[in-house]
Amino acid sequence: MKRILHLISSLQGNESYSIKLGHAIIEKIQDKYPDSKVEELNLVDTEIPHLNPAVLRTFFIPGDQLTAEEKESIRFSDELVKQLLAVDIIVIGAPLINFTIHTALKAWIDHVTRAGITFGYGKNGPVGKVTGKKVYVAMSSGGIFSEGPGKANDFVAPYLKAFLGFLGMTDLTVFRAEGLKVPDVKEHAMEKAIDSIKID
Ligand SMILES: Cc1cc2nc3c(=O)[nH]c(=O)nc-3n(C[C@H](O)[C@H](O)[C@H](O)COP(=O)(O)O)c2cc1C
Repeated sequence: MKRILHLISSLQGNESYSIKLGHAIIEKIQDKYPDSKVEELNLVDTEIPHLNPAVLRTFFIPGDQLTAEEKESIRFSDELVKQLLAVDIIVIGAPLINFTIHTALKAWIDHVTRAGITFGYGKNGPVGKVTGKKVYVAMSSGGIFSEGPGKANDFVAPYLKAFLGFLGMTDLTVFRAEGLKVPDVKEHAMEKAIDSIKID
């Protein structure tokens, strides 16, 4: 039995390709691990707040010294960290928005990146503490970034690889529904993405 966390950051609800791709990935994970449990976190619907000065400050105050107000400020971040640490597999829906991830997914990243909890500093530099997880990324984009002229602007996959690796999640596989706005490509983009799914 695996615990799966599905992060959603699409603006397009039922029309979303990254959500469809995420569901297809989860279906294949469940084929492999039939009793798996899925938790879905829609970061856009949740209206996850941006990291702000009050929340950041609480990150550096020992838990037993937090005031009631500070505890309330940090509650959201604490819950997201607890959820992340508890799961085995994370499926991250990452639609391309203006060349990068949606701000809701970036806000989640900012809330789970906690010195001393999800990463630390060792003699040789940062050490990720979120280990033993498998991550699948369900990317969707109007253009094509895995090859051709767009490859020079393929920022999202390398960014997520770097960030997740920083926290210790080094086992990452990216699946792409791409060219969703490109004539003659868009018609088959989703089918191609779903066919590319392999669960290791
Ligand atoms: C506000 C906005 C910005 C976008 N920016 C880009 C972009 O920079 N590059 C790109 O290839 N596609 C871009 N797209 C297209 C989306 O990546 C595409 O519609 C994709 O299907 C979104 O994922 P979703 O279907 O899961 O919502 C953009 C779409 C929106 C709505």
